[in-house]
Amino acid sequence: MAKKKLIHFTENLSFKHLFQPRYSDLQPQFRLKGRWNRDFFKNDHPITLELGCGKGEFTVGLALKEKTRNYIGIDFKGARLWRGCKTVEEQNLANVAFIRSRADHIEQLFDEGEVNEIWITFPEPQPGKERKRLTAPVFLRRYQRIMSPNSIVHLKTDDVPLLTYTMEILKEFPVEILLSTENLYGEYRDEPVAQIQTFYESMWLEQGKPIGYVKFRFRT
Ligand SMILES: C[S@@+](CC[C@H](N)C(=O)[O-])C[C@H]1O[C@@H](n2cnc3c(N)ncnc32)[C@H](O)[C@@H]1O
Repeated sequence: MAKKKLIHFTENLSFKHLFQPRYSDLQPQFRLKGRWNRDFFKNDHPITLELGCGKGEFTVGLALKEKTRNYIGIDFKGARLWRGCKTVEEQNLANVAFIRSRADHIEQLFDEGEVNEIWITFPEPQPGKERKRLTAPVFLRRYQRIMSPNSIVHLKTDDVPLLTYTMEILKEFPVEILLSTENLYGEYRDEPVAQIQTFYESMWLEQGKPIGYVKFRFRT
């Protein structure tokens, strides 16, 4: 393993706001499931998740803007999460946590209705591997179960087939589409959602790629 990566992995162990549950810690459920606000954030603010948060810039960016929400970024790559954790430490942010895990385990991590908003930011399109897509029915059903009524899910992607796929799948779910576009910055440049970019989003924008976006709410 590269020396820098090793140093980051070691430092990851010291972050109080990074949780790295082993598989056994998730059986039957993680100790903070249903208790994130009471035992970690120590407030009753709504919880926003970012799935596949990578280096966590977006989670941190949102948390800096909105201090009365709690933000949790989830990714399984520890080296990437180190960056977000370091920023949280440097900026002394109390409303952010990160979890090193696959999004597949969110029902072991969060109780029914515990989550109020989900961002899925530039997920891998997983061509040919539908069940791995973060907007596949298996994932949407999980989101539905952990979210409080009327909670909002956002997807940002540069991948048109993934956006098209997601829109088709959403027809099978009790959702209200609040906004959808294949060109966020062309059509909705002034919307709050266009005011903050993820790491990958900035790269795609520099290359002139249009960014797709869909925002929807589960009706039940
Ligand atoms: C293309 S990157 C995007 C990172 C970040 N959202 C951004 O826009 O800069 C996709 C990220 O999703 C993570 N990822 C992919 N599948 C995941 C899963 N099932 N659970 C958690 N993270 C996942 C990867 O590790 C990677 O960091």
